Formats: sequence, C-alpha cells, structure tokens
Amino acid sequence: MSSAAWHAAVAAVVLTIILCSRLAEARVHPSHGGGLATRRRDVVPAGIGGCALAVEPLGYPCEEHEVTTVDGYILSLQRIPRGRHAGAGVGQPVLLQHGVLVDGMTWLLSSPEESLAYILADRGFDVWIANTRGTRWSKRHVSLDPSSQDYWDWSWDDLVTNDMPKMVDYVYTHTAQKPHFVGHSLGTLVALAALSEGRLVDKMKSAALLTPVAYLAHMTTPLGILLAKTFAGEAISVLGVAEFDPVAPAVTSLIKELCRHPGTNCYDLLRDFTGKNYCLNNSAVDVFLKYEPQPTSTKTMVHLAQTFRDGVLSKYDYVWPNVNEEKYGLPDPPAYNMSNIPSPFPLFLSYGGQDELADPADVGLLIGDLIGHDRDKLTVQYLEQFAHADFVIGTCAKDYVYNGVISFFNRFN
Ligand SMILES: *[C@@H]1O[C@H](CO)[C@@H](O)[C@H](O)[C@H]1NC(C)=O
Ligand SMILES: *[C@@H]1O[C@H](CO)[C@@H](O)[C@H](O)[C@H]1NC(C)=O
Repeated sequence: MSSAAWHAAVAAVVLTIILCSRLAEARVHPSHGGGLATRRRDVVPAGIGGCALAVEPLGYPCEEHEVTTVDGYILSLQRIPRGRHAGAGVGQPVLLQHGVLVDGMTWLLSSPEESLAYILADRGFDVWIANTRGTRWSKRHVSLDPSSQDYWDWSWDDLVTNDMPKMVDYVYTHTAQKPHFVGHSLGTLVALAALSEGRLVDKMKSAALLTPVAYLAHMTTPLGILLAKTFAGEAISVLGVAEFDPVAPAVTSLIKELCRHPGTNCYDLLRDFTGKNYCLNNSAVDVFLKYEPQPTSTKTMVHLAQTFRDGVLSKYDYVWPNVNEEKYGLPDPPAYNMSNIPSPFPLFLSYGGQDELADPADVGLLIGDLIGHDRDKLTVQYLEQFAHADFVIGTCAKDYVYNGVISFFNRFN
C-alpha cells in the first residue's frame, strides 16, 4: 500500500470523527469521553420501512418504492405524495438526497413543523426520499450479499453514475414531471458532479444544495494532521475492510485508540473538530442518534479523504498509475469540473459560517467556479451562524432556509 493510500485511509477516519462529532455535539458531556465509540444504533425491525416507521404515524400518506440500479443495487424510496390536510391533487415532485453515513430518515426525524420533507408535503409538493446503496433500506442487491467485499466495491463516483440518475429517472417517469432536487452534504457533491458531466440537466427542474460540498481542502486542522501521521499504520490495517460502518467494532475500537493518544481526549477532539450548530434541539439529536449513523463503503470514505488531501475534485484515485490507466485510460483520475455545470440550470446554494465540513472557504471556491452561471438562475445564501447539521435537523432551518428553498422552487415550476 502506498503512502498516499494510507494517508487517505487515515484521513477517512478523521473525516468520520468530524462527521459524527458534529452530530453528537449537542449531547456530548466530558464524562462520556468517546461517546461515539460506545454508541449503538437502535435496531429497526425487519420489514418496517420508513413509511411505517416514521411517516404514517404522523398522519401523512406514504408509499414505499423500489428501483434497481444498472449495477444491481436495489434502492428504496419513500414517497409522501401530499400533506396531511391537502386535497387529492399531487403537486410538483421533489427528490431529497441525504449525505454520507446517514440515510433518508434524516429528513424525517424532527416534527412536521420542522422537517423539510413534511414541510414540503404540507406546502403541496410530492416528496420523494432517496436512500443510498448500503444504508438500512437500500441494502439489497440482485446477486451480491452485503457481507461480501464485492458488495462494497464502489465510491461516490458510482452514486453519480448509478444511484442518482436512477432515482431521478424513476421519479420523472413515475410522475411524468421533472423533479426539483434537494441535497445535503454528500448529496450535494453527487448532484454537482452529475450536473458537471451534463447528467440529469434535462431531467430535473432545479437543485437546492444545502451545505454544498465540492472542495474539502479547508476542513483540515492541525490536530487532524497529527492524527493522520500518528495513526497511519493502525488505520489501514483496520480499514482494509470494504464496508465502513461507524458503529462496527473494528472502527469504534480504532476511534477509542485515537482517543487514548497522549495529549488528546475525545471531549477535546470533538470540540476541536466540531462546527458549532446554531439551533439543534437536544431531544432531536437524541432521536437522530437512534437511527444514525449508517454504513457506507470504505472506498467512499477514502475518496472523500482524497478530495480533502488533494484539494481538487476528481474521480476515485486508484493510486497505482496502471490501475487508473485500466479504469480511466489515464494515469491520473479525471477531474470533475464545476465550471461545466450548464449555466441555465437553476441552483440554490445555502451554506453556514460555522460549518467546518463544508467550510465557507471551500464553498467560496465552488461559487468561484460558478462565476459564469446565469445570474437569475443562481441563488446563494450565507448564514453566518449555521453549521453542518442545522440545515437538516435545526429547529430554525424552516425560517432561515426552507422557506427560501420553496420560493426558489416556485420560481422554476
Ligand atoms: C425539541 O424536541 C422536542 C421533542 O421532539 C419537542 O417537544 C420540543 O418542542 C422541541 N423544541 C424546540 C425548541 O423545537
Ligand atoms: C474547467 O473548465 C473551465 C472552462 O470550461 C476551464 O477554464 C478550467 O481551466 C477548467 N478547470 C479545470 C481544473 O480543469
């Protein structure tokens, strides 16, 4: 394994700590030490989907749908075709795409007054919730078993080429209307990458990107670099597995090891890495932690770490030039170029000043790439007080963000 590859793997661990600490921040107490490392997801009974678990008990209509990607992953979508009190008519479709290490449940955890999915349904939209391959309700494959390494042999490039186009196409075909799109975190990266390659441009009406991620170079911290150097060896021996499950023993014990390193403890670690969220409700965070985090592929984590390390946005780097050559016909992975997003495509970007994952400096680079975008098709919103999780489970996201998203969608119906 080359030095670049193991640094990338270690960076993946650091990234996970960052992601999870952000979600755990509101409940972490010094006495808990590495709270993440000792946590367990609640088990959702087999056969219970998102509709039965979360949506129907609140009085909303809900349908479970299923699509199969070209490479055989069977993905589930939950559809909330209308609001609690609306008439029979079905409105404009909207597809909600979650981020990495979570699933579609993230849109359904707060109250109907606070969760984007319910707010959209009550405002007359036909809401479709995506679940990425490998997460709780999208674990099946036509031939591969999730316990096999082959099942997990994909990076977020495959979400760009397979999952997202398949789900958008399904909604488009099923409703005979182009959907609007909302992405959070990795969900924005997948959409931006797809649009930059000219995919989906004629299949979606617009895209609202909450905490847009295209560049990750600025999320680094001195502590992260120290950890990457110190734990490189252990990290790769643990992360040689193809599934990356933040609550699996292999990963939690590695995180515990990080926490024992002289001069660090997990309380400080969490504080150092965490963007300060503005309006998280502690009980909403507790609900969140019942269902998340969800697994992803190690390759996706390594791919994100490559973006973090290299400061450029490229397809997955196989590191060995001959392997890249075999996959791409080039010694280096091809870049995604955000300047290639067609300028008439309506985009809404909302980002937070306290976000240390989608750091404002990195979002600034993306906005720079969009300099040639049609002025009246690009809306950029900057919220000084907001951090990464506020955009999905913040109690004040409706007032600050979602109302703006809905006005934006209504301009492009
Ligand atoms: C926080 O969540 C609890 C439980 O869902 C809810 O009762 C309470 O009203 C919420 N607080 C705010 C400020 O939204
Ligand atoms: C991206 O594309 C633009 C215009 O098409 C070009 O000027 C720029 O150099 C490209 N950037 C990269 C990193 O290739």
